[in-house]
Amino acid sequence: MNKNRFKPVFPHKVFSLFLFFAVILGIASQQVFAESCGNEFHNAGQDCKGCHGNKFSVAGTIYLDKGVSIPLEGALIKITDAMGVKASLYSNRVGNFRLYENMTPPLQVSVAYQGRELFMNAKAAYGGCNNDGCHIPAAGKPGKVFIPARDYSLTGSVMEAGVDTGEISYDKDIKPIFDTKCVICHKSNGARSVSPLASYADVTAPAMLTPGSADSLLIQKLDKGSQLGTMWPYLNDAKQLQTIRDWIVNQNCLELSTSNVGGPVPDAEVKLKQGRIVKYQGYTNRNGNFILKKVKAGDYNVAISKKGYDTSTQTFRMDPNNRTTLDLSLKKR
Ligand code: HEC
Ligand code: HEC
Repeated sequence: MNKNRFKPVFPHKVFSLFLFFAVILGIASQQVFAESCGNEFHNAGQDCKGCHGNKFSVAGTIYLDKGVSIPLEGALIKITDAMGVKASLYSNRVGNFRLYENMTPPLQVSVAYQGRELFMNAKAAYGGCNNDGCHIPAAGKPGKVFIPARDYSLTGSVMEAGVDTGEISYDKDIKPIFDTKCVICHKSNGARSVSPLASYADVTAPAMLTPGSADSLLIQKLDKGSQLGTMWPYLNDAKQLQTIRDWIVNQNCLELSTSNVGGPVPDAEVKLKQGRIVKYQGYTNRNGNFILKKVKAGDYNVAISKKGYDTSTQTFRMDPNNRTTLDLSLKKR
């Protein structure tokens, strides 16, 4: 049929109304498909041809790791069919690829990445790579075509976790108490504006307290048993009073140290495990740093241990496309 001979049979108005609804419907259906399907970024690892049939001659998904957790973008898939027709295409960001051009099986297929090329041993009789019975171990499981990237070193450090010194900080411990219980009145336009308590300077003003002294006015005004203690009902918390008292009397209202992260932990054992199997293992040097060499892409459990410390475990993904260092802390027992 010659498409050029097509002429709209509708009167103009009806036709534009039809167009209007078609556009609305189109937008609506696109929104529905956006999350599940309707684009090339869906159903990774699933049997593409099972749904799409022969619309695709070849389709599948490529992964970086054997565990098929990290999709590989940019792998080059090369196909030569029985007639010698060649095609090549790249996997997208979820690892998917698909070819629309007709191909005559059996097909010779290879996958290349970072200068490495893997060939299929036998020619493929069917282009549905993720089809049950092809690169799929069992029904319902995702496809398993993977091409390992270069293995990279994993570097990291192990530091001693902060020790709780019991130190009191104005910003962390004192200010929140005054802000919630006192500042409503003790501020520039509050009911007791003559003695503001909104900042460190306000609170430590000479009229308010003398560092190191339990006779400070601030403490006396909060002393339940004392006649002066008219401000106690606003505080009404013995633990908070103790904190304020300790801060003034024992800590002289000073900030002791800014960081409570300890030093490096040398000779800590670092293990990367998959399941119960230790895949990589090493020790921190005297600066607390470690290197595990040639780590393959995949998901791991990291366990750090040293005598006298609590063993620390966490998950870690070695993703050559998104490399990070592994900085950890250990808590002294
Ligand atoms: C469970 C069924 C199902 C599976 C499995 C599936 N798709 Fe789809 N796919 C759909 C549906 C439904 C649409 C939307 C309708 C359409 O456009 O054909 C779609 C649309 C698409 C589109 C956009 C339209 C087109 O035909 O170009 C691409 C590209 C695509 N899929 C690629 C893939 C690839 C690659 C795989 C395998 C990794 C795959 N699909 C697996 C159901 C599926
Ligand atoms: C409802 C308003 C109000 C709140 C809330 C309040 N105060 Fe007062 N504060 C006053 C008034 C009024 C005075 C003066 C009368 C007195 O000393 O009893 C005062 C006096 C004081 C004084 C003596 C200095 C001065 O201005 O005379 C101190 C110190 C003080 N308050 C501390 C606090 C602390 C600490 C809190 C929070 C736990 C607090 N106040 C909560 C109203 C308030």
